[in-house]
Amino acid sequence: MLHDPNRVYVFDTTLRDGEQVPGCQLTTPEKIEIAKELELLGVDIIEAGFPVSSPGDFQSVVEISKAVTNPTVCALTRANKGDIDAAVESLKYAKHPRIHTGIGSSDMHIKHKFNSTREEILERAVEAVKYAKKSVEDIEFYAEDAGRADVVYLAQMVEAVIAAGATVVNIPDTNGYCLPDQYGAKIKFLKENVKNIDKAIISVHCHNDLGLATANSIAGLQNGARQIEGTINGIGERAGNTSIEEVVMILKTHQVLGLNTQIDSKRFYELSQMIRTQMRMPVQPNKAIVGSNAFAHSSGIHQDGFLKMRENYEIIRPEDVGFPSATIVLTARSGRHALKFHLERLGFTLDKDELAAVYNKFLTLADVKLDINDEDLQGLMAHRLVKN
Ligand code: KIV
Ligand code: ZN
Repeated sequence: MLHDPNRVYVFDTTLRDGEQVPGCQLTTPEKIEIAKELELLGVDIIEAGFPVSSPGDFQSVVEISKAVTNPTVCALTRANKGDIDAAVESLKYAKHPRIHTGIGSSDMHIKHKFNSTREEILERAVEAVKYAKKSVEDIEFYAEDAGRADVVYLAQMVEAVIAAGATVVNIPDTNGYCLPDQYGAKIKFLKENVKNIDKAIISVHCHNDLGLATANSIAGLQNGARQIEGTINGIGERAGNTSIEEVVMILKTHQVLGLNTQIDSKRFYELSQMIRTQMRMPVQPNKAIVGSNAFAHSSGIHQDGFLKMRENYEIIRPEDVGFPSATIVLTARSGRHALKFHLERLGFTLDKDELAAVYNKFLTLADVKLDINDEDLQGLMAHRLVKN
């Protein structure tokens, strides 16, 4: 089958990188429930855990492997036989198993984490891939801290692990260090200088320490990567991982990029709420795509423009991500159009003079109450004996 060059594979690591966050731990039944939702969302790969890390994580990979059919189920390992053996065992029921093995690639990690040399680390990387390949066909290799790695050494490592059998090469910006143009250039360099790069898919795995995870992932895709790794709500180590919902909606909104995924974006909001609740990790109200304010219009200028034509202030339709609906929030910054809109919704039709009078009362109230609800509006209209 011919590989569609514009297809972007979505690799979800909510249950691995996301679940590592203190307080976000899940039970195996909870992980199964989320994995089934991820399957319905249409992710291509579910990273189900790090089997050697604990018996519970091992069991979760086993049970998720049994529970889902379409997505590839992936298990994380370090570059050693014990980790790989545990991962192979945990994936025995997976219809499409993948081992995700790897090692540090930056001089920082090589010297100060492994107390080793570039040559030795390269050897260990190749050995790990070869060893994993004996048991599982689909092998993803991660070059940890690739964001800070010397690009020529990184290219050497990538070429060697592809020759050893890696089907996907993950170039993580583990510390969220890169600028988008630097990260994009790194992917471009690999694309242009690794001889066997056409035998593997390049994957982007970005962390959000400088708030650039999504921008870096997009830069990677624009330069030839075709797999994006992330989590729902962007949860993950420290400042988190790339938000899958953000990348997918960027690709949908900017069709000019010519890239597509198999994700059913209408499921985003519900899944986001589920992750928020199960993983006990609140979603900031202004979070792109799934935050409670993502489709709330509150200033008078925006509300007026939105009520004239929603596209004036809406580049994504809430229904496209399963969000209940856009909202016009009433605050002291709201204009008459917004007040009129809400009063009409409640059944009150006002002429210009009456609207002006009620608007003044509304502003006085909003200055002290900050956020006005339907009950407050009924109060403002108490002078009316009969609703129109
Ligand atoms: O951020 C990272 O480098 C990782 C690897 C284990 C893939 O999560
Ligand atoms: Zn990570």
